[in-house]
Amino acid sequence: MRTVGIIGGTGLNEIDGVDVVERRELSTPWGRPSAPAQRLAWPDGSDCWFLPRHGDGHTIAPHRINYRANIDALRLLGVTHVVSVAAVGGIAPGNRPGDLALVDDLIDYTWGRAHTFADGVAAPLRHIEFAPPFDPQWRQVILNVAGEVGVAIDHHAVLGVTQGPRLETAAEIRRLAHDGCSLVGMTTMPEAALAMEAGLAYATLAVVVNPAAGTVDGSIHAAIEASLDMGMAQVRRILTHLVAAD
Ligand code: HPA
Repeated sequence: MRTVGIIGGTGLNEIDGVDVVERRELSTPWGRPSAPAQRLAWPDGSDCWFLPRHGDGHTIAPHRINYRANIDALRLLGVTHVVSVAAVGGIAPGNRPGDLALVDDLIDYTWGRAHTFADGVAAPLRHIEFAPPFDPQWRQVILNVAGEVGVAIDHHAVLGVTQGPRLETAAEIRRLAHDGCSLVGMTTMPEAALAMEAGLAYATLAVVVNPAAGTVDGSIHAAIEASLDMGMAQVRRILTHLVAAD
């Protein structure tokens, strides 16, 4: 039996057309999560938990999110499978605004974030295996659902996770491209590693909302709203069928 937790990012602070049947305020040994967790009831009778990682009013910057509290809260609620939705920039030419990607690997460029439950102080030291960082079976379920609802999704994407909140310089993006990153975002780390430590299956569903810095002329923010709306509509189509999927 799978219990799904959705972590919403930019553009997905709430999910329209789904009833919020409960809001649960939680505190964890790591502090409070970004917002009360919402239990969502889907039209097909299934339900899941939802947590907006930037808070209810989208005010928490990527480097200030309490990732440990968020993941621990989902674990305490009995979540077994996390789908993390993230807005990202597209580095590789095949990743255009509005496209979706189910990330299959990552490089962590973040720093100074509380990034483990198991540092030998609060809990015994552990060295989890982190290759692959995303759960292969859970990714396959998401890919199958995307196929069933006719949403195209790139499933060979490498995400570079940067510190933010500023966007990158063109030289930083050239470096990420050289390192093998096809996408760039700010929130998948340490979230993915914490989920692994907590024993939760985790996958990142990324929505490309802008071309990464230096990959096009002019402002990269120009089309962000339209791409976000377009991409998130596709994400909702997947989520609607994912929670009850076999
Ligand atoms: N860089 C980093 N994070 C992002 C971007 C970007 O271009 N777009 C959305 N999140």
